[in-house]
Amino acid sequence: MVSNTPIESNYDRESELKAFDDSKSGVKGLVDAGLTKIPRFFHHPRPIINEPKSSTLQTQVDIPIIDLKETNARAEIVENVRYAAENWGFFQIINHGIPQRVLDEMIDGARGFHEMETEEKIKYYSRDYQKKFFYTSNFHLFTGDAASWNDTFLSVMAPQPPQPEELPPICRNIITEYSDQIMKLGFTLLELLSEALGLKPDHLKSLGCGQGLFVLGHYYPPCPEPELTFGANYHTDSGFLTIVLQDSLGGLQVLHQKQWVNVSPLPGALVLLTNDKFKSVHHRVLAQKGTPRISVAAFLRPFHEGIESIVYRPIKELVSEENPCVYKDASLDEFVRLRRNAEGLDGKSALAPFKLDP
Ligand code: OGA
Ligand code: NI
Repeated sequence: MVSNTPIESNYDRESELKAFDDSKSGVKGLVDAGLTKIPRFFHHPRPIINEPKSSTLQTQVDIPIIDLKETNARAEIVENVRYAAENWGFFQIINHGIPQRVLDEMIDGARGFHEMETEEKIKYYSRDYQKKFFYTSNFHLFTGDAASWNDTFLSVMAPQPPQPEELPPICRNIITEYSDQIMKLGFTLLELLSEALGLKPDHLKSLGCGQGLFVLGHYYPPCPEPELTFGANYHTDSGFLTIVLQDSLGGLQVLHQKQWVNVSPLPGALVLLTNDKFKSVHHRVLAQKGTPRISVAAFLRPFHEGIESIVYRPIKELVSEENPCVYKDASLDEFVRLRRNAEGLDGKSALAPFKLDP
């Protein structure tokens, strides 16, 4: 337990972090080196062993499932989306039209990248967020309070996709094919969400909510002490909509009515930015023993020239005397700055600093 860890006066967290970052081989590098105790900077202040068992629902009975089968009535789908987005901020999508082959190849491509020869892989290691493609471990390594047990690659696929040679050969074609498919599904979801808000189908699209696409390939190596850390700490996402593809291992949990609910493997989604009408769900990934877990998260987000200074505010059609603004106006610049300065991903809503007094 973290609280029982003896205080070592000579513990130099900064240099441990730096050595880890300089190795460029991420969490997988630690596991490959055969380590049996996780470094202290991965120790979470509120580890899973301190949580009451009752805080985790082992079943997934109630997780909303949206079935996009073409023969289903549109109005019914819209109603299901509205219910899920308002009550959960989360749903799983089936019959979405993306061929299983593409999903399988995307998981294999992400695995292939993270499992390639270290000498090859470290060429892509970076913390330069201007790059179109890079891999790193823990975006918040130096600012968060505890590191998480995963490595990630990030590929900016829209509005301007990278040049083919900017992408690693092992997943070059599949990232491109997967992104095309996800963009289509993303636009379908934007239409459904618009309608679920009582707006015209193209409303969210016209706000630019689907112009940018970031594809993140996560690799959660097996963890020797999974009870002391997380695969991904408790957070909400900062894009507009996230579509997650996970392999068959599980480990993703969403917070619903103060309980952590396991999300059994199926493609799923998360939502935000609707004056709190739709929830931005808190979620996390458990660290696990056994085999690596692979997931691919596609973030749809606004993206265009001058976007930093554009001011976002609750959709005016959704604001009335009975439903006053919950958030103040904010530019993306302010949002990103506050989020970067926040203490990593420790469970704070990305929108919390913008909340107006009740
Ligand atoms: C994320 C995320 C979940 C997962 O990328 O923000 O929450 O299952 N991913 O990897
Ligand atoms: Ni997330």
